[in-house]
Amino acid sequence: MGDGSRLPVIDFGNMVAGVLEGIGMDPGRLRGDLAARFLDARAEVEARRRAGEMGFFDLPGDRPLAAETRHVADTCARECDALVVIGIGGSALGAAALRDALLPPLWNELDDKARNHAPTLHILDNPDPDTVSALLACLHPARTLFNVVSKSGTTAETMAQFLVVWRWLESTLGAEKARIHFLFTTSPERGTLHELATRYQIPTLPIPETVGGRFSVLSPVGLLPAAAAGIDIEALLAGAAAMAQRCSTLELAANPAGTLATLLHAAHTEMGAPVQVFMPYADRLGGLAYWVQQLWAESLGKAVDRTGRRVETGPTPVPAFGAADQHSILQLLMEGPRDKVVVFLGREAPGEDVTIPAPFPDTPDLAYLGGHTLFGLLDRERRATAEALRREGRMNMTIMVDRVDAHSLGALFMLFQIAVVYAGALYGVDPLDQPGVELGKVLTRGLMGRSGYEIPSIPPPDPRWRV
Ligand code: PA5
Repeated sequence: MGDGSRLPVIDFGNMVAGVLEGIGMDPGRLRGDLAARFLDARAEVEARRRAGEMGFFDLPGDRPLAAETRHVADTCARECDALVVIGIGGSALGAAALRDALLPPLWNELDDKARNHAPTLHILDNPDPDTVSALLACLHPARTLFNVVSKSGTTAETMAQFLVVWRWLESTLGAEKARIHFLFTTSPERGTLHELATRYQIPTLPIPETVGGRFSVLSPVGLLPAAAAGIDIEALLAGAAAMAQRCSTLELAANPAGTLATLLHAAHTEMGAPVQVFMPYADRLGGLAYWVQQLWAESLGKAVDRTGRRVETGPTPVPAFGAADQHSILQLLMEGPRDKVVVFLGREAPGEDVTIPAPFPDTPDLAYLGGHTLFGLLDRERRATAEALRREGRMNMTIMVDRVDAHSLGALFMLFQIAVVYAGALYGVDPLDQPGVELGKVLTRGLMGRSGYEIPSIPPPDPRWRV
């Protein structure tokens, strides 16, 4: 790779027969039937990619788009103290993952100098009035930029918050000035935001038509807030490109995305483990775990397969956080139903470490901790938990990065995106659509009184069934 950065490594030993106590997958299959199955899946993905349906593969190489985003981000960083992303689902979770992983903890609490004069970064996804009011009460309207992110430009939660903010800016700054506090990230060709941007000369950044919401983190959706806050988007894209290159091989055993998708699919469909627990042992990777959950759930949970046959399939992705959730979900993972695979995410080194002092050498419950570091404890807990699961015959694997930095995060984003489209092909479903969320959206529009969406009323709660 030339820049000295190592790509994430997947250790799947604890899925393998002979390592995993009692059960496990025959590793020879990675060069046998699983390899053949993977080749079919990969061929399907490549065909769709060539047909222009999977634009996320091309984002790391789209230099003009990255340059345009950087230019707008630089202006934003110069001219505002606070950047607020308004978006939901795929239009918010990538930015949140980037913020958690790559900005110093407590970023918004730091003073201007400690933030290197970059803006604070806020994300409004849920239209909860308590959250929205509390945030607006803290912001200086004249020094804030609102980045409204919606590919469709019709998402109710995002549009409602946009309208609230528009009126708030109008009432505090006046109608003429309000519009200069917006930046839209949306479809370059269609949709309400696109039309409003034209009408009010609001700057926009494009979400390429071939890039779906949950595959958009490496487009301006994620890059704009990242770059504005000072994250190295070049390293992010380089990590993604390097992972895409690594995953271009036809050889399953050398292809990390193929291996991840194939093992998780086989664990579900052959070994009774549909639940996939994504468990980072790094607070910085918490946002990534939620991003993976959405990517996995919306891409793979499908009623029909690609031939139209009813299948009602898909794994259940669950985020968990080590070591805190060792005191929560671990009991279930160790002794509950054998229907889960745990995917640990670990790092070789933290950003900073803290030595544990030894002020009580005569107290055995405390003395053994002294002289270690907090990272040493956390990481040993990860290893101990993986080993405990192995001894109980509970499938698990570990994805390790050297450090949580822009390069490794870009690589992880690309790894999971490629893995999920392979997994879609293995399940036989379309990982790019999400028809299941439409009915709820249509009913909501009806309940909000939108013309054309009239619905027979939802029955009121029946007192017989209330307690
Ligand atoms: O992955 C997806 O497509 C969804 O999660 C969308 O990102 C989400 O529904 C928001 O859609 P939009 O960007 O159109 O507002």
